[in-house]
Amino acid sequence: MTIHTPVLLHEVCSFLDPESKLIVDCTLGHGGHAMALLALAKNAKLIGIDVDEHMMNKAKEIIGTKDKEQGTRISGRIQYVRGNYTDIQNILWWKKADFILNDLGVNLEHFKAVERGFSIRWMAPLDMRFDTTQATTAADIVNKYSIDQLQNIFEIYADFSSPKALELAQHIVTTRKQKSIITTHDFKTVLNECGLGDKACTVIFQSLRIETNKEMDNLKTFLSAFPETLNSGWRCLVITYHSIEDRLVKQSFNELVETWKYKLVTKKPIKPSYKEVAANRAARSAKLRIIERI
Ligand SMILES: C[S@@+](CC[C@H](N)C(=O)[O-])C[C@H]1O[C@@H](n2cnc3c(N)ncnc32)[C@H](O)[C@@H]1O
Repeated sequence: MTIHTPVLLHEVCSFLDPESKLIVDCTLGHGGHAMALLALAKNAKLIGIDVDEHMMNKAKEIIGTKDKEQGTRISGRIQYVRGNYTDIQNILWWKKADFILNDLGVNLEHFKAVERGFSIRWMAPLDMRFDTTQATTAADIVNKYSIDQLQNIFEIYADFSSPKALELAQHIVTTRKQKSIITTHDFKTVLNECGLGDKACTVIFQSLRIETNKEMDNLKTFLSAFPETLNSGWRCLVITYHSIEDRLVKQSFNELVETWKYKLVTKKPIKPSYKEVAANRAARSAKLRIIERI
């Protein structure tokens, strides 16, 4: 089984107070961060949220296996919640957290699970949903969005110039009139026809994934919801992988600081070391920002 390598693990753990009682991992994934945090905060419980049911089951399996092999009792300290981190206030209900981690983005397994259509490399349905109960897939977007909507996605999330984004959007709409674009290969062919190489195709795939999962909207909702759920004197950490995400976090944290109820724990975002990036390329664009409720 391929297990996702938790990004900035050492750094995240270094900001945890071992006296923490309630930790929230908003994006449990394979549970790498969660297990390390619980190993440090010996009396803490952890609420582990993930919107992807498959991922949640995998986390249970990985953590259960580790408990058996190493004689630990991590599983019993985790409350697994299959849900969206935008719902953090309802999930916590009356409780307040001492440490909130939101490690955004994709799990390695999303790319490895070929049939889910996240990877440009393999032929699969153009799906890309984290939440497989969600109605809209990436193919729906490609086949139904207007030229303007598609252009916006490529301009905003893929940082394409306006004319290039428009050209691409127009070509998609012309192509889909002849035949629906339903697989990853159909979509890649359309991109190649517009002269896009592998690197540009990967960026366009990423922009489509962001739109499919409403990743920026979810982050905005989380940033306005989490302050209500954080105990005084404790911290929220967000790891971003896209410049827009980082901008949203920076802006939201700065606004909280202006209320005098919060302080930034680090002025600049923390980035992975060269060594970490060499060992795990997925970490290369990661930025960690931390805020503390006073
Ligand atoms: C980068 S991975 C987290 C990896 C995890 N920290 C670990 O150590 O294994 C991001 C996870 O967030 C989940 N996810 C994405 N959007 C979500 C959302 N809105 N609410 C909850 N989980 C989400 C994905 O399914 C994925 O498993």
